[in-house]
Amino acid sequence: MEFSTLILAAGAGTRMKSERPKVAHELLGKPLVRWVIDAAQAAGSTRTLTVVGHQREQVIPLVDDTTIVVQEERLGTGHAVMVARAALEKTGATPAVTAPPAATAPPAPAPAAAVPAAQSLVVLNGDTPLITAATIAELVALQQDRGAAACVLSCELDDPSNYGRIIRDEAGEVLGIVEEKDATPAQRAITEVNSGAYCFDLAELLGSLNTLSNKNAQNEYYLTDVLGILVGAGKQVCAHCIEDADELMGINSRAQLAQATKAMQRHINERHMAAGVTMLDPDLVWIGADVTLQNDIELLPMTILYGQTSVGSGSVLGPNTRVIDSTVGRDCVIDESVVLGAVLHDKVSVGPRAYLRLGTLMKTGSKAGTHVEIKNSTIGENSKVPHLSYMGDATLGVDVNIGAGSITCNYDGTAKNPTLIGDRSFVGSDTMFVAPVQLGADVVTGAGSVITKDVPAGALAIERSSQRTVADWVAQHSKRDKEKPQLD
Ligand code: UD1
Ligand code: CA
Repeated sequence: MEFSTLILAAGAGTRMKSERPKVAHELLGKPLVRWVIDAAQAAGSTRTLTVVGHQREQVIPLVDDTTIVVQEERLGTGHAVMVARAALEKTGATPAVTAPPAATAPPAPAPAAAVPAAQSLVVLNGDTPLITAATIAELVALQQDRGAAACVLSCELDDPSNYGRIIRDEAGEVLGIVEEKDATPAQRAITEVNSGAYCFDLAELLGSLNTLSNKNAQNEYYLTDVLGILVGAGKQVCAHCIEDADELMGINSRAQLAQATKAMQRHINERHMAAGVTMLDPDLVWIGADVTLQNDIELLPMTILYGQTSVGSGSVLGPNTRVIDSTVGRDCVIDESVVLGAVLHDKVSVGPRAYLRLGTLMKTGSKAGTHVEIKNSTIGENSKVPHLSYMGDATLGVDVNIGAGSITCNYDGTAKNPTLIGDRSFVGSDTMFVAPVQLGADVVTGAGSVITKDVPAGALAIERSSQRTVADWVAQHSKRDKEKPQLD
């Protein structure tokens, strides 16, 4: 089954009331248009094209693995396809003729007239993020099996408002689509709606584009009119009406975005629970599409897992935890913490209230405790940073213990500098490491020390002014205070 895909993503999405183009809004951490492209690619789309326009500088980086087509003026969904015509014709091009043979060779026989194989083109709206790869594949299979000129994906809705309606004849054959704004009251009563997803025979689609007009309520060139045009030309047009209306939901407003998020959240969480993940309250756990979870994980309320994140068996995450683009090993605990772009090996303990940032590597059995921030650092096996510390650009060996309140002073105002702490070192509370600085293995630092010079293995480094103790100071002060004349 071969097909290409055209994604329509040039619209402004005025109903979002946003500075951001609609298709760049995120659902569970992933832009709307990306959901659609990923579904098409998972269904096996061999080539994907995206029509961009409004604020395209924000959309292009999200779709730059597809062929970009720019629609300068937004004159409707049909116009978006017209603009893509040249790029689509390239998709449909027959293989280039090979170079002529060498002059000495006999002239090659004239090639038989090329009969290009029918090409299928799926067209999807960039604002229908819940569409699945399986549904796209079904749509393509139906169009190809029937040899239809077009097949539209539809569903029945209790409230069909705002959608185009599927018009059928008495025998149930599809006659076309009518937009709500152009519909008669009788047509508005139809509950079968157009999802905005179609599979066309590419040549038939391109052949009918010239016939499109913008004589309608919105003065737009409607892609939906192509179906009526094809039917009028005696071509076969069909509809694939699916059960799950959620899947075809178009996002036009923030309320619909919230509704789609709920639907997708439920769907994803049910999948993970079926695969052995425990959730105390699945309504309070949000997991992105590309997150992978092993079984016997426990997710506590207010946990968000987004991006390219994976979590191993036996780990407990939450409550109040956000993990993005991170790898979490087996039997880890992440309690009330934020983990962004970090890698945790097995049996790592994080939080409560830790902040692990980009480039953090926590090796097996290590700990980042309460009010600890770590960035671009490696914490070696079984090493512990238990309380109130900042480790930036640091490398800790194995079995290191960092006393409470210790800090790497890694930034000198211009550059970031590294701190190295050797195996089994014991760092006293409130040690400041003025980087760049290195400690060998088995070093001890005295509490409160500001370490500015490298420390060799096995040494004690202590940097402290000596303590003065004044005997009986308290008693003398209270006596003197009593002898002072009272002014009030
Ligand atoms: C469209 C369909 C409607 C269907 C609904 C499903 C048409 C005329 N109507 O209506 O039948 O029920 O989707 O959600 O197609 N776009 C462009 N260029 C343009 C205009 C739009 O790229 O010039 C893109 C938008 O970015 C969007 C998609 O096309 O991703 C659909 O446009 P939108 O304005 O949301 O169409 P609807 O009114 O929802
Ligand atoms: Ca829409």
